[in-house]
Amino acid sequence: MIDAKNVEGLAGIVAGQTAISTVGKEGVGLTYRGYSVEDLAREATFEEVAYLLIDGALPSRTQLEDYRHKLMSLRTLPDKLKTVLEQLPAGTHPMDVLRTGCSALGAFEPESAARGQVDIADRLLALFPSILLYWLHFQNNGARIDTASDAPGTAWHFLELLGGEAPSDLDERALDVALILYAEHEFNASTFTCRTIASTLADFYSAVTGGIGALRGPLHGGANESAMQLMQKFHTPDQAEQGLLEMLARKDLIMGFGHRVYKSSDPRSEVIKPWANKLAEAHADQCLMPVAERLEAVMRREKNIFPNLDFYSAPLFHFLDIPTSLFTPLFVIARITGWSAHIFEQRAHNRLIRPTAEYIGPPPRPFVPLAKR
Ligand code: ACO
Repeated sequence: MIDAKNVEGLAGIVAGQTAISTVGKEGVGLTYRGYSVEDLAREATFEEVAYLLIDGALPSRTQLEDYRHKLMSLRTLPDKLKTVLEQLPAGTHPMDVLRTGCSALGAFEPESAARGQVDIADRLLALFPSILLYWLHFQNNGARIDTASDAPGTAWHFLELLGGEAPSDLDERALDVALILYAEHEFNASTFTCRTIASTLADFYSAVTGGIGALRGPLHGGANESAMQLMQKFHTPDQAEQGLLEMLARKDLIMGFGHRVYKSSDPRSEVIKPWANKLAEAHADQCLMPVAERLEAVMRREKNIFPNLDFYSAPLFHFLDIPTSLFTPLFVIARITGWSAHIFEQRAHNRLIRPTAEYIGPPPRPFVPLAKR
């Protein structure tokens, strides 16, 4: 009999090979195609990272310009997709909007010999902010916004569609860094879902739609929304400490903390936290960051558990005036790059993903006809 504790959740199981990223490898931490995430977050823009993940190499200046222009040209929603978005009921979760938008686009612009996987990856990267914010404005006040824009990057495009004006340099760069950090993370639950679907030779949209579904849960991408809700419960660090101790006594899971692979810290958290602090300073925040830092200190002291990327990205997004329900969708907007790279890789070396299970049900037994039950 296998050791169920070790096998549950496939913890520690190598489920395939990848040349895209490393997570938690001793001495290297998180790398995308060999580059450390710290270097990428400091030196690169999100579009350079997207190109790196999707193409496999950093772009030249000309390649980057061409790529930015291609993305700009793909931001307009098809009319039929606008109609679908307008039908979604009030109260729909924005993750369901993206999941439905992705699936519907797969019907309006199906994958074909003429429309290949790279074009679809670029289209989804360009269109996810448009889908989300077209729906948001229509839902909030019936406005049918024009999502076409010559904004140079995804972060700018998102913030401009959300707030109606060009963002400040600080706001744009803070979101850009967050998108870099969220872009890729090896065989996490949503990426593995994309790869499993791709391994059946299903179309690109089906794989991404499944990935969005997997990302939605609070144990994965949904944790950034839950972390925000937790921080907002408290008005002072002392209140936060007391409230957290009560939650720990009840054995509650504290969202935004812990990780399956990292054991002592999440390198992405070390990068995002200073950016959250910069925005806090710009907003003269006296409450949210002190509360967040106390929660971090108490979690380290009581449980020796560290914040993951979702924890400090929550206040960062909040300071950018992004509604909490859009936090996990922002994860999708970034992660479509990593998902795409993994779908390409799976397809290039495909074998159907189909593990086996240890059977623990009843032994073979005679069938009892309905009349005798
Ligand atoms: N709050 C409280 N206790 C925790 C937490 C947490 N956030 N994370 C782990 N623990 C405890 C567990 O209760 C367990 O304790 P036990 O040994 O006494 O039972 C121990 O630490 C080990 O935890 P596991 O559940 O075995 O860790 P696993 O690898 O299965 O889970 C996970 C990892 C899902 C990320 C977990 O840490 C968690 O639920 N965190 C909160 C959700 C979250 O923040 N998710 C975002 C992940 S990162 C991302 O998607 C960007």
